[in-house]
Amino acid sequence: MKFFIDTAEIAEIRDLAATGLVDGVTTNPSLIAKSGRNFLDVIREICALVPGPVSAEVAATDFPIMLEEGRFLAKLAPNVAVKVPLTPDGLKTCRALSLEGTMVNVTLCFSAAQAILAAKAGATFVSPFVGRLDDVGATGMDLIREIVTIYRQYPAIRTEVLVASVRNPIHVVEAAKLGAGVATLPPSVLRQMFQHPLTDKGLAAFLADWQKTGQNIL
Ligand code: E4P
Repeated sequence: MKFFIDTAEIAEIRDLAATGLVDGVTTNPSLIAKSGRNFLDVIREICALVPGPVSAEVAATDFPIMLEEGRFLAKLAPNVAVKVPLTPDGLKTCRALSLEGTMVNVTLCFSAAQAILAAKAGATFVSPFVGRLDDVGATGMDLIREIVTIYRQYPAIRTEVLVASVRNPIHVVEAAKLGAGVATLPPSVLRQMFQHPLTDKGLAAFLADWQKTGQNIL
């Protein structure tokens, strides 16, 4: 399973990329607004830090401008994945950009029917939002199961399921059990995944016992 980081904070990305566990980055307009920085500068910097796909979202909602914005964003760096919303114009843009060889992440997917359309439009990634579905009383992970099951019926589908709106490590584990290709994690969730109290307790005991041996490895 690939891990993308869902943030526009450069310091966080630098820190987590150093673990060697980060395969890409996703941003969205809300994350850019939160960073308080210039969108294009942030995308250029992230693309230089992480070699994998970096999602940068268009701001227009009508096809001609979306396409123009998408082409512009794609030129910022070879690893830009243009993010478009799951709307008719978004999927038209997805199709056009995909045919030009640009990676496209179709975002704001909330149903299996939408995911089928994204695959037909040639999306590189489709982003179902599990946390936001959980928030409204649905079970986000059921959608991941449905999409993974459907895509498996058609080996010609190359679209990767990018589990988004992840809120906790359980989301990641459940998505991995279902075979989803990618999860995009807020930095806090990736950090939480390292944690287990028995790891801390066990390490403290090992270190204390090692001290008692009076030895050094180097
Ligand atoms: C994914 O690409 C989105 O940026 C993100 O996962 C949305 O998450 P949220 O529902 O926590 O805002």
